Amino acid sequence: MPAAFKAFRIHAGKEFERAGIESMQLDDLSNGDVVIRVQYSGVNYKDALAGTGKGKILRTSPLNGGIDLAGAVVSSADDRFKPDQAVLLNGSGLSEVHDGGYSQYARVPADWVVPMPAGLNAKKAMLIGTAGFTAALAIQRLQDNHQQPGQGPILVTGATGGVGSFAIMLLSQLGYEVVALTRKVEEKEYLQSLGADSVLSFDEVVQDHAPLHKGRWGGAIDNIGGATLAWLTKTVKPWGNIVSIGMAGGMQVETTTMPFILRGVSLLGVTSSACPQELRKQIWQRLGGELYPHKLEQICSAEISLEQLPEAFDKLLNGTVRGRQIVCV
Ligand SMILES: NC(=O)c1ccc[n+]([C@@H]2O[C@H](COP(=O)([O-])OP(=O)(O)OC[C@H]3O[C@@H](n4cnc5c(N)ncnc54)[C@H](OP(=O)(O)O)[C@@H]3O)[C@@H](O)[C@H]2O)c1
Repeated sequence: MPAAFKAFRIHAGKEFERAGIESMQLDDLSNGDVVIRVQYSGVNYKDALAGTGKGKILRTSPLNGGIDLAGAVVSSADDRFKPDQAVLLNGSGLSEVHDGGYSQYARVPADWVVPMPAGLNAKKAMLIGTAGFTAALAIQRLQDNHQQPGQGPILVTGATGGVGSFAIMLLSQLGYEVVALTRKVEEKEYLQSLGADSVLSFDEVVQDHAPLHKGRWGGAIDNIGGATLAWLTKTVKPWGNIVSIGMAGGMQVETTTMPFILRGVSLLGVTSSACPQELRKQIWQRLGGELYPHKLEQICSAEISLEQLPEAFDKLLNGTVRGRQIVCV
C-alpha cells in the first residue's frame, strides 16, 4: 500500500471547523484489525450533515467522513478475513466514533466487517448503501410483525429520497401495493418506474388534534417524522405497522394512544447504525439474493469523486437529489 493516501476529513469538536481532502498515512487511521482498500462509498443524509456541520454526527474529532464503505481486504489480524476478500461496512460507528469510508484506506474492527454477499460487488453494495440497507431492515420489521399485502397499501414518505426509493422498489418486488408520498409530484414517473402504484402529494398530510382519521394505509415506512408521523398513526388501518426511520421533517410527534389501543397499530423503530451484526449480515444476504433490488441502476443519480463531496452534500440537503449519489474512492 502507498505511504500516503487521500481522505475527506472532518474537523468538528465542540463546533464544526472544516472538512476537506487531506493526505494521511495508515498510522493516522482509527485502530482496527482489518485494513481495507476502499473502492466505493455513498452519500447519505447523515454524511451530508456530518460533512457540512449542519448536524452533530461526529462524537470524536477529527474523523474521515463516510458511514458506508466497500472494498478489498489488504491485511487482517483476524482469521475470518483474507487479503483480497471483498467486504463492506455500513453504519457501525463509521464517521461517528471511527474513521469512515471517504478515504482510500480504512482500518476497522473485524466484528464490524460484512463479507460481500455473492450477488453484489463494491459498486452495487454502495449503490444500496445505508439507504437500501435501512429500507430492507424496515421491511424485515414489517414482515416480522406480520404485515401482509392483503392489509392494504404501504405508504412510503420522503419517497424520492434514498431510503424512500429503495423502500418503494423492494416493497413492490415483494408484492405489496405501494403509495409514494412526496413533495415532488413532478417525479411521479420516476416513482412509478420504481414500483409505486400511486403517488400522493405531501399537501395531503393533515395537521390537527383529531385522535383518528379514516384508515387508509395497510402500513407505512416513514422517513419524515414530526407531523407526518403523527398523521400516519391516525390513518393506518387496524393492525397495521408503521416503521419510523427518519426525522427530516421534525423530531416531536404529537399523537394519542387511540391508534394503538383502538386499532392495534404498531410503531416500529429502525436503527441501521446500531443494528446487531448477525441481523446486519442476514439483511445484506437478502439484498444480494432474493431481495436484490431489480432496478438498482435506476437509483444511481451520480458517481462522484472525493473532491466533489461538498457539492453532493449541498444537493442532498437542498432536497434536489433523486435516488443515490455514490463515491468512487
Ligand atoms: N434510522 C436509521 O437507521 C436511518 C438510516 C438511514 C437514514 N435515516 C434517516 O432517514 C431519512 C431519509 O434518509 P435518506 O438517506 O433517504 O435521505 P434523503 O435522500 O435526503 O431523503 C429524504 C427525503 O425526505 C423528504 N424530505 C426532506 N426534507 C423534508 C422536509 N423538511 N419535510 C418533508 N419531507 C422532507 C424528501 O423527499 P420528497 O421530496 O420526495 O418528499 C427527501 O428526498 C433521514 O432523516 C435520515 O437521517 C435513518
